[in-house]
Amino acid sequence: MKTISGIKEWAAAVEAARKPWHSRYIAMYDGGLDAVTTDPLLWRIPADDHLVHRGDGVFDMFKCERRAAYNFKAHMERFMRSARAIGLEWKKGASDIERIVLETLAVADRPELFARMTLSRGPGSFAVNPYDSEGPVLYVMAYEWHGPFMESHPQGAKACESREKPKDPRYATMKSCNYLPNAMMKRDAADAGCDFAASFDARGFLAEGATENFGIVSAGGELLFPKADGILQGVTMERTMELARGMADGKLLRGVRRADISRRDMEEAREIIVTGTTLDVVAVTEWNGRPAGGGAPGPVATALNAALRRDILENGALRTPY
Ligand SMILES: Cc1ncc(COP(=O)(O)O)c(C=O)c1O
Repeated sequence: MKTISGIKEWAAAVEAARKPWHSRYIAMYDGGLDAVTTDPLLWRIPADDHLVHRGDGVFDMFKCERRAAYNFKAHMERFMRSARAIGLEWKKGASDIERIVLETLAVADRPELFARMTLSRGPGSFAVNPYDSEGPVLYVMAYEWHGPFMESHPQGAKACESREKPKDPRYATMKSCNYLPNAMMKRDAADAGCDFAASFDARGFLAEGATENFGIVSAGGELLFPKADGILQGVTMERTMELARGMADGKLLRGVRRADISRRDMEEAREIIVTGTTLDVVAVTEWNGRPAGGGAPGPVATALNAALRRDILENGALRTPY
């Protein structure tokens, strides 16, 4: 271990620590400096930011395709709602955050990317007390997009039940930076050789995945997603439900609604569906080690994914250019 006291020598040590995965990182706005950098080595968050040592902050994540942010307004609304829920106030308002995010995307200058905005409690001490910081700091990260899940997994996804219980509704319904239970769910999925794992609440009803929503096409032919009070309101799930309402003509679907979904409903479902910003609509073809939906991507998941892809690429009303 070296002891380094000067910033120049420290910078040289940082320079020597480039990692292969940095090639996927495109640009970061650092609100502590009010500056954007395209060099991932400079993507740093102070160790005394309460985000780092307490998980005290909120975030949201969206996707850009063909140089436009998809459903950006909905992500911004959820971001500001999450911030309000933990008493984080951005004095200049949401439009100022929007401006900074879009300017960061312009610097990133790629037609396709994922973008993450994080509002931290800010630096000031290592205490847990949120009032012990100098004020919120915004960070915006743009990084490489990996394409829709069903394009790289045409056979569909494997999913299973997680041992993890859903978060308390107050925290489940916001996007806080405390994602330890979510990380443990993803670990359950990976340990079981699955792509996704879903949690069930104490009453035995479906909640959600680690960073995705789960729904089903019931045995009765309805598209069902869990009730809103105990899960994150997925922007993708909500848009998928809107698109599905236009398809509920009795042939493909008989209806679209929120419902309590039991383990048995999952087992008897015609299809199991997963939605998320990084995924679009995914057909689950294996649930808890058994074939789901006949073991192949079903007609509803396939139609909804096609409709969502068209919406992402062509719906001018939901595309914010940069
Ligand atoms: C816990 C959780 N549920 C669901 C989702 C899906 O939400 P969205 O469609 O807005 O990406 C996410 C995505 O970030 C999440 O973190």
